Amino acid sequence: MTVKIFDDYNSMSAAAADIIIETVKHKPEALLCFATGNTPVRTYEILIEKAKASNTDFSRCFCIGLDEWIGVPKEKYGTCHYLLHQQVFNPLGIKSSQIHIFDGMNTNIKAECNKMDAVIDSKGGVDCMLVGIGINGHIGFNEPGVDVTLKAHEQELHGSTLASGQHYFNEPTPISKGITLGLAQVLKAKKLLLLANGKSKTAIIKQAVEGELTNKVPASYVQRADNAIIIIDKEAGAQLSAK
Ligand code: PGA
Repeated sequence: MTVKIFDDYNSMSAAAADIIIETVKHKPEALLCFATGNTPVRTYEILIEKAKASNTDFSRCFCIGLDEWIGVPKEKYGTCHYLLHQQVFNPLGIKSSQIHIFDGMNTNIKAECNKMDAVIDSKGGVDCMLVGIGINGHIGFNEPGVDVTLKAHEQELHGSTLASGQHYFNEPTPISKGITLGLAQVLKAKKLLLLANGKSKTAIIKQAVEGELTNKVPASYVQRADNAIIIIDKEAGAQLSAK
């Protein structure tokens, strides 16, 4: 794990965008995994600007989504499917044949998990994965108490995740469960970019980066991942002792 602390949200977002661009330039057929949420929004804006300015070719890469709400149609504003298309895939011209996202409406969630596991295995693992962190230490929908050896799986969501999740939708939306890549897959990404900014993330970044390794704070397992780069602003890193 490497920790990089930036002056502000914009510069940390630019650094994350640079790593994604470098990944694709170095390996045009890279497997990329993207998360939704407030944190990566600026990274995606800068990624699109830099991709155009540098003529980076995304036509051979393959993209997956980190997680999805169960029981919410993908066309609905706020789903991982909807937001990633709007913020990343459409602006970069990435075609549907280059994308695999969990279908949260599939009544057979196990089959949905198996499909995602097979995509990742067939591509030889994820080359670059961008994730955020929840205030309870989750990554994707790997909530506190999760079995860290799991691959894609269904997850009952905790109160803080449901509360913050509701803000991604533009109308009240019944949510209770999610489907997510497992920590076994997250930690194995060849480059794992964990982004956090702002005061609301200060305490959990301290626990994740310098606290005890425990599944009560799933993100603490990034300490074991040599390929993890923790990309944070000064506010999120304010309590770290090793600055
Ligand atoms: P946020 O969510 O980027 O909206 O803060 C992060 C997360 O819950 O993983």
